[in-house]
Amino acid sequence: MKAFEPGEIVQQPRVVVNPPLTDELREHLVDMWVRVTNEGGSVGFVPPVTAAIIRPTADRSFDRVRQGTDVLVCLTAPTNPEKIRGSLRKNGLLESPEKAEHGLVGTRGTDSDNRASMGLSGALTGERVVAWLLLAESESLLRRHWRTVYRVQVDPAFQGDGLGTKLMASAADHARDELGLEALTLMTRSGTGAERFYKRCGYREVGRIPGAIRIGPHDNRDEVHFWLDL
Ligand SMILES: CC(C)(COP(=O)(O)OP(=O)(O)OC[C@H]1O[C@@H](n2cnc3c(N)ncnc32)[C@H](O)[C@@H]1OP(=O)(O)O)[C@@H](O)C(=O)NCCC(=O)NCCS
Repeated sequence: MKAFEPGEIVQQPRVVVNPPLTDELREHLVDMWVRVTNEGGSVGFVPPVTAAIIRPTADRSFDRVRQGTDVLVCLTAPTNPEKIRGSLRKNGLLESPEKAEHGLVGTRGTDSDNRASMGLSGALTGERVVAWLLLAESESLLRRHWRTVYRVQVDPAFQGDGLGTKLMASAADHARDELGLEALTLMTRSGTGAERFYKRCGYREVGRIPGAIRIGPHDNRDEVHFWLDL
């Protein structure tokens, strides 16, 4: 495997669509989702969360990928344990320096679980997913010319380096060129900065449901609907 150079993944992340959803990969994605949420991300939950809270929701999404109704779009990069460990440690997910020494990290206590979150097997050996999203197909036969983008997230250790932009562009390319779609839509909560991000990715706001998302007592956010013609 080529040695990692700081900054390299920003220039050359690999786009991987529908990698095999091994137990290792599922746990890795759940771990990332926990860290993204606990560092302030808006991906369906509010902090603090644990893997146990997120896993049932994640499993439903992963099942839809397995059934072929949703598509998982990932960016991968060569494994870079130090940056990942820093983010895990901040979230209390890295249990001890001893485990860090041995590359054992994770959200729970067992070595099996810890190993599961560190390494990816199969098609992603030597690489790690650093960003991902899902493209959901509508159940309605009348809505099959577009899909809904959801669960957009970049590993907190790598945010702000252009990966989110690259991920959104890759998803749009796949939707247009491989799935033959005409548009993508997505929803986000107001007041997080994500609106600005999606506009920069070419999406336009097409609707807003006031106060539809309650993220805490007396804290209702608008559900903002975006659309991208492909
Ligand atoms: C939102 C997210 C996917 C963006 O990915 P990223 O790799 O950090 O973004 P990029 O580096 O490609 O940034 C692209 C631009 O969007 C801006 N941007 C990204 N996230 C932003 C945020 N939360 N608020 C304001 N601006 C943001 C960046 O500043 C950058 O603009 P600039 O070029 O003018 O500086 C990522 O930050 C993330 O995973 N956040 C947590 C999860 C989340 O909230 N997802 C959105 C669900 S609706």
